[in-house]
Amino acid sequence: MTRIIALAGSLRTQSYNKQLVQIAARAAAGKGASVQLVELADYDIPLFSEDLEAEGVPAGVIALKQLLAQSQGLLLASPEYNGSISGVLKNALDWLSRPSEGFEMNAAFKGKAAGIMAASPGGYGGARGLKHVREVLTNLGMELHPDQVTVPAAYEAFDDQRELVDLTLAQAVQALSAQLVEMAESATAGERVAA
Ligand SMILES: Cc1cc2nc3c(=O)[nH]c(=O)nc-3n(C[C@H](O)[C@H](O)[C@H](O)COP(=O)(O)O)c2cc1C
Repeated sequence: MTRIIALAGSLRTQSYNKQLVQIAARAAAGKGASVQLVELADYDIPLFSEDLEAEGVPAGVIALKQLLAQSQGLLLASPEYNGSISGVLKNALDWLSRPSEGFEMNAAFKGKAAGIMAASPGGYGGARGLKHVREVLTNLGMELHPDQVTVPAAYEAFDDQRELVDLTLAQAVQALSAQLVEMAESATAGERVAA
C-alpha cells in the first residue's frame, strides 16, 4: 500500500492549513493510500545550526525523516509568511534534507510525489508562498503535481465540520489528493505497507 504523509507548515492550534491538509488526507485515504497526518509540533525540531547538527541530529528530526523515508508522497498545506514559505516549515525541511546516519542528502524526498496547498486570510490564498514551496520541494528532488490549491479568506472558508464551504475548492482538493495518490503509486522510492 502506498504511504502518504500529510503535513501543515503551521504550529498554530486552529491553523487553517491544518484543516486544509486534513481534508486532503481524508481524500487520499479514500483513494486507498495509507495516510499519516503529521503535526510538526509533535517533533522536537530546533532551529537549524550546523554546530547543533555536529553535536548530533535531534531525535525529532530522525523520527520525522524515517517517517518520510518510508512514504511515497507528501500532501502539504503551508501558510504564506511575507510572501514566502513559513519559517517552521523551511526549518524542518532544512533539517530533513541533511545527510545523516543511513540517509544520503535529500534521501527522504528524492523521487517522491508532492501536492501542495495553502490557506490564508488574504485574497490570494497563499499563492505567492506556494511558488517558493514548489521551488524548495523541487530542489529536494520531489515530483510536484502541476496543480495546487489556494484557499483565500480562510476565516470564512471552513464550516463547523471543518469542511470547505466552496464546493469548487472542495472538488479541487479531492482531485489534487486523488491524483497525488496516483503519482505516489508510481513512485519507486520508499517502503510500502501491506494492504
Ligand atoms: C509573520 C507573518 C507573515 C504573514 N505574511 C502573510 C503573507 O505574506 N500573505 C498572507 O496571505 N498572509 C500572511 N500572514 C497571515 C497568515 O496567512 C495567517 O496568519 C494564517 O492564518 C497562517 O496560517 P495558519 O492558519 O495555517 O496558521 C502572515 C502571518 C504572519 C504571522
